[in-house]
Amino acid sequence: MIQIPKGCKDVLPSQVYAWHKIEDTARKIAASYAFKEIRTPVFEHTELFARGVGDTTDIVNKEMYTFLDKGGRSVTLRPEGTAGVARAFLEHGLTGGVMPFKAYYLISAFRYERPQAGRLREFHQFGCELYGAAGPAADAEVISLADGFLKALGLKEVSLELNSIGCKQCRARYHAALKAYFAPHIGEMCADCRVRFEKNPMRILDCKEEGCRAVAAGAPRMLEYLCDDCRAHFDGVQALLKEAGVAFTVDPSIVRGLDYYSRTVFEFVSAAAGAQGTVLGGGRYDTLLEQVGGKSVPAVGFAAGMERLLMVMEAENCLPRQEEGVACYLAGMDEAARQKAFLLAADLRRAGVSCEVDLMDRSVKAQFKYADKTGARFVAVLGERELEEGAAEVKDMKNSCAERVKFQELANYIQRRT
Ligand code: HAM
Repeated sequence: MIQIPKGCKDVLPSQVYAWHKIEDTARKIAASYAFKEIRTPVFEHTELFARGVGDTTDIVNKEMYTFLDKGGRSVTLRPEGTAGVARAFLEHGLTGGVMPFKAYYLISAFRYERPQAGRLREFHQFGCELYGAAGPAADAEVISLADGFLKALGLKEVSLELNSIGCKQCRARYHAALKAYFAPHIGEMCADCRVRFEKNPMRILDCKEEGCRAVAAGAPRMLEYLCDDCRAHFDGVQALLKEAGVAFTVDPSIVRGLDYYSRTVFEFVSAAAGAQGTVLGGGRYDTLLEQVGGKSVPAVGFAAGMERLLMVMEAENCLPRQEEGVACYLAGMDEAARQKAFLLAADLRRAGVSCEVDLMDRSVKAQFKYADKTGARFVAVLGERELEEGAAEVKDMKNSCAERVKFQELANYIQRRT
């Protein structure tokens, strides 16, 4: 038997209702902040991610699904949503449009990672991106949106961790300090970190290897190196979040796994998600648009991992109840009744009432069993007598009461009670 590729998951009809809850909540909260949906391709030119996400990241170096298409072009399945949105924003000349530009997306993304609970090779994100606003209010708005989203899902055990990784200028001083700190420990670090030491020493702080983590624990913190402007920006974000009632802690160890960030970075973390505790991450990325070939536009955004949200929702007992079955199942006792049920079903659907009829030539008893199992709210039974009378025997599956209802009144009857 052919099996699903490693690190992927099917979502069966019996599970999809929980996804709908996340998607509906995402769309509602995004709309309440005037974010509009954007859809970009599942694959892009590889160069977009190499330049955007950054060639010192694990994502670009180890995790991308990259292949040559039949025209010999190198393309990559998107490992995240931000770079594609940035490309579309530039390509459609939206830099000259109404600002701020606010877009959200619900997408699948692909990373060749070692699968484990909460870490998949195909996963899904809800993300928001805001372009054009450089001040701390934009950071606070995006973070409030993220916070509101998680709260609307019913999550309580999620905490927000905030940091600033400064701008190009203050980071240069920080990199020098990091290099001075790591230089005597280079022999204790993994091969990747030795490369990171040369190319981007801040990446060492994100290494998962035990030895590197031990060394990194004593490394200087970016917050001590912030320039005056970055410090003022970070103070501004914190003050606005406090005013908005968004609880957070400053965690100087957060550096994020993508290279495009500057200034504010943040993660919403849950103990319920186990080792993969970050359910949502984001930050400011004022240089990305320039990096991928456009003019400089300040930007800030985030993405939440839907599979991780599901894990946390389950652990916190806030998965929604399973969606219900149809409003009305039409059971036919004989061939003539089945035919009438088929026609009545079409009328009911036109009136907006969801319904089902038997497609398996089952006995009435078996049809009832099916209706009960699938959660039909009412069952309308049709037999010889019912056809003569032009009325169905309608059983309320919640309390087992039954009533005679004229065919032409059936839609109304069901609608009033569902
Ligand atoms: P990220 O932190 O790489 O950021 O991913 C965001 C979220 O996607 C993570 O917090 C996690 O919940 C989920 N996620 C990431 N990788 C996996 C995986 N292999 N399996 C399951 N879930 C995963 C970004 O992607 C940025 N584009 C976020 C952003 C938007 N920053 C600014 N705008």
